[in-house]
Amino acid sequence: MRVVFLGPPGAGKGTQARILHERFGLEQISTGDILRRNCVDETELGGQAVGYMARGELVPDDLVIAMIERELRGLPTGFVMDGFPRNVAQAEALDALLGRRGWPLDGAILFSADRATLIARLASRWTNPRNGRTYNVLTNPPKVAGIDDEDGGELLQRDDDRADTVATRLDVYDAQTRPLIEYYRKTGKLVEVNALASVEAVAERIASAISAAPAPGTRW
Ligand code: AP5
Repeated sequence: MRVVFLGPPGAGKGTQARILHERFGLEQISTGDILRRNCVDETELGGQAVGYMARGELVPDDLVIAMIERELRGLPTGFVMDGFPRNVAQAEALDALLGRRGWPLDGAILFSADRATLIARLASRWTNPRNGRTYNVLTNPPKVAGIDDEDGGELLQRDDDRADTVATRLDVYDAQTRPLIEYYRKTGKLVEVNALASVEAVAERIASAISAAPAPGTRW
């Protein structure tokens, strides 16, 4: 099973990709997490990406596509991509990379949610920067405030979750990523999932979506 997650910042893509990984063993490729790790480790890629990420802009395609190409090497055939592709050029590059391996994409899951909900979720998100695990102080709080339930690590708020950067990220999504909805709709692989429900309910919708060959235009 090879799926990509599309959807605006805060829609729950990372949360659900982690659940798919835990429940079905699908490899999770989160470009945001990989880039943030590179920033923390002060790699060359991190140095090239950090300014774009701080401003809420997309990191240039050539850097991100080369990164995905490296990630795909040695990967099992099943995966969920969270955060890639982000524009039509990246989607075309992904098609070419998967085409060379004979690995067609099975589905593109679109998370839909309104802007006010997205802003509220991002403002209350706390993240473990070492493993990418996220919590939400309103809807999914850790057992001990500021501490990851799993590894006891400190939880932090992401720099790009500041209100002004969130506004830029949402605008960038509308301008650059939203056209991918039509891109994948034309392939018949797009499934829209209403993300305005509990984490568990959305997970069930996604499990249904990926266990059935989706008919074009299907909504869960
Ligand atoms: P990235 O890390 O990919 O950020 P994003 O797409 O903006 O998505 P988020 O991680 O903010 O949100 P999410 O949908 O994963 O939501 P989450 O599950 O955390 O990208 C960051 C930056 O990296 C970009 O701005 C760009 O600079 C760069 N970048 C990354 N990929 C790139 C690419 N391909 N090309 C170029 N640049 C790239 O949930 C959010 C909160 O809501 C959490 O607190 C969670 O607990 C809570 N929550 C989740 N689901 C629910 C629910 N159902 N109900 C209630 N609360 C929920």
